[in-house]
Amino acid sequence: MKIVASYSIKGGVGKTAASVNLAYAAAKAGNETLLIDLDPQGASSFYFRIGASKKEKRSYFFTKKNRLLSQVKGSNYKRLDILPANLSFRNFDIMLNNMSKSKQRLKELLSSLKNEYDLIILDCPPNINLLSENIFNAADMILVPVIPTTLSERTYEQLLTFFHKNGYKKKIIRPFFSMAQSKNKLHHNTINDLEKRHPEFMKSIISFSAEIERMGIHREPVLAYASRKSKVQSYRTLFNEIVHILAKKK
Ligand SMILES: Nc1ncnc2c1ncn2[C@@H]1O[C@H](COP(=O)(O)OP(=O)(O)O)[C@@H](O)[C@H]1O
Ligand SMILES: [Mg+2]
Repeated sequence: MKIVASYSIKGGVGKTAASVNLAYAAAKAGNETLLIDLDPQGASSFYFRIGASKKEKRSYFFTKKNRLLSQVKGSNYKRLDILPANLSFRNFDIMLNNMSKSKQRLKELLSSLKNEYDLIILDCPPNINLLSENIFNAADMILVPVIPTTLSERTYEQLLTFFHKNGYKKKIIRPFFSMAQSKNKLHHNTINDLEKRHPEFMKSIISFSAEIERMGIHREPVLAYASRKSKVQSYRTLFNEIVHILAKKK
């Protein structure tokens, strides 16, 4: 079982769009897949037409596997399950703060699911806090959407600095360009510059696409309704790249 986190310190960069479509692509490719919506806003649960999970009592999320599994919902797609978010997820940091091994709780919990799933995708809230550190400890890959602008570049570098200062392994961080506009000069130059300075960028680029914006109306992954020729198929290429990288990991 592998764990991929769709994560950024910033909001509105394409984490949820990536989580939803990568989870769909993974299930289509034959993997038993669980998408965990860690963001109390519940956007990825919404895209899959799944209601909020029941209100969690303190700390159950991180301690009681059966309790957690009872909240997992099937989706409309074969091999794809969703653990929806609810508003109590905003209290994760308070829960974790009161627990021993407070940075390892998510890793412990998810490793107990290794017989059930081939891949777990974490749709993360925009933050850098105790939950984020749980994510850094649990994930095999931290996939970071980066909009090719100066501010996003700066946030990405802040993340690298955080990893460096806190002893996390930088090699699990894999950024990709999100909402890229090929005709936009700033985007074009930023992509060229960042690719040179950061060879860890994924080759697949997710372009800005009105089809992706319309996911909220369709309420399904864009891959489920886009044409074979649509540029949004780059989510599949991104998924294949992820598989390739994870296969090289022991
Ligand atoms: N490649 C894209 N092209 C156009 N719009 C996008 C793209 N990716 C995401 N969006 C839109 O941008 C908004 C933020 O995306 P989302 O995935 O929710 O970001 P995050 O989870 O990082 O907050 C949403 O309205 C979404 O539909
Ligand atoms: Mg989101």
